[in-house]
This record gives sequence, structure tokens and C-alpha cells, in this order.
Amino acid sequence: MIQFNNLHQETPYLLFKEKYDEAVDESQKGIEAISISSYNKEISEVDSRYVNLKFILNDEFIFFSNYESPKAAAFNSHNQIAALVYWPSINVQIRMKAKIKKTSDEFNHKYFYNRSEEKNALAISSNQSKPIDSYSQVKENYNKSLKNDDLKKCPEYWGGYSFTPFYFEFWEGHKSRINKRVIFEKIDCVWKQSFLQP
Ligand SMILES: Cc1cc2nc3c(=O)[nH]c(=O)nc-3n(C[C@H](O)[C@H](O)[C@H](O)COP(=O)(O)O)c2cc1C
Repeated sequence: MIQFNNLHQETPYLLFKEKYDEAVDESQKGIEAISISSYNKEISEVDSRYVNLKFILNDEFIFFSNYESPKAAAFNSHNQIAALVYWPSINVQIRMKAKIKKTSDEFNHKYFYNRSEEKNALAISSNQSKPIDSYSQVKENYNKSLKNDDLKKCPEYWGGYSFTPFYFEFWEGHKSRINKRVIFEKIDCVWKQSFLQP
């Protein structure tokens, strides 16, 4: 589930929440999964991966990850991302574009402190996306961390990412196939709303 706090009272945020509530009502599985696409200009590569969106705090969308992972290298190299959710239970896709940045150390420490020790052992022990000899080595590293590490202390290489969209597209599939596409673009601090052909 996504935790909403002090949600920004502008139309695209309210619409996001309205669609989220509809998907919750339809028991949408994996509702917090969001695809994040990035561009690493050092290696000229575009990539995508799902993460779990944990919070929407005011106008900030927040997920957590490893700060030494390939996605982190991409965000450092080029701070614009595209984010994408699709909730099949209501047949709605939401596309977003945003600049991304790290959350504060204080925020990360507080969040990490309140997570389960099992989750934290994995965050501490995993050199995310680096090759390893075997899966049993992954489990060994995890078990070592579970026994030996301070599982309340957030490592420097782990924390949150926050993005505030400057572009939203809400796509609603209709039985008639006359699908509805509404976009919101922030121009000079004002949201401009328009429609796109399906
Ligand atoms: C549904 C789903 C949720 C995921 N959530 C996260 C997450 O919150 N944070 C994370 O670092 N990886 C998450 N992952 C794993 C990422 O997709 C990815 O494998 C990992 O972050 C490494 O990505 P990178 O090599 O691009 O840095 C999730 C995967 C799936 C399928």
C-alpha cells in the first residue's frame, strides 16, 4: 500500500488518489509497484525497473533503494526519470515525468529504524545488482548480516528517492475502445490540462 500524507491539493494529485482508491476498492494486487525509467548518459543507456512506491508526501513520490546500484548511477548522471503504473483492476495507466533526488539522511534513518530486521539485513548485505557466484552466497551474506550487523542503523549506501512530477498522463481504457487520455503539464508553476487522442 502507498501511504499518503498531507497530499498536494492540485488536480493531478487528487486524480491520482481518486484512481488509487478505486483500484484499492477493486483489490488491486501489487498496487504500490511503479516502473522507473532512467537514462545513464555516461554509458548512453536507458533502463527500467519496478520499485515499491512507499509514500506520497505532499507533492513528493518516495521509494527506497541502494545508492550504489545501477539506477543510482543513472540518477546521478541524468536526474530526469519517467514513472509508470498500470492498475488492471480498473484499466488505468498513469505516466509521469519528473526530476529525482535523494531523501535526507534523517528521513532515511527514521524509516530504516522502523522496518523489520529481515528487510534491513537484506538491504545491508546486498551489493545490489553486482554479480555473485551463487544464490547460496546471497543467503549466506544475508544470514551473516542478520546475526552480526546493527539492523537498526541505516547504511550510507541505502535510502530513499523522491520525485515531484511535472507531467502526468491518465489513460483510462473503455469498453468502447474510445479510451480517455488526460494530461497535466506544469508550465510556469501552473498545471495546464489537455486531452490526447487515443
Ligand atoms: C514489484 C517489484 C518491486 C520492487 N521494489 C523495489 C524497491 O522498492 N527498491 C529496490 O531497490 N528494488 C526493488 N525491486 C527490484 C528492482 O526491480 C531491481 O531489480 C533492483 O532495484 C535493481 O535495479 P537496478 O539494477 O536498475 O539498480 C522491485 C522489483 C519488483 C518486481
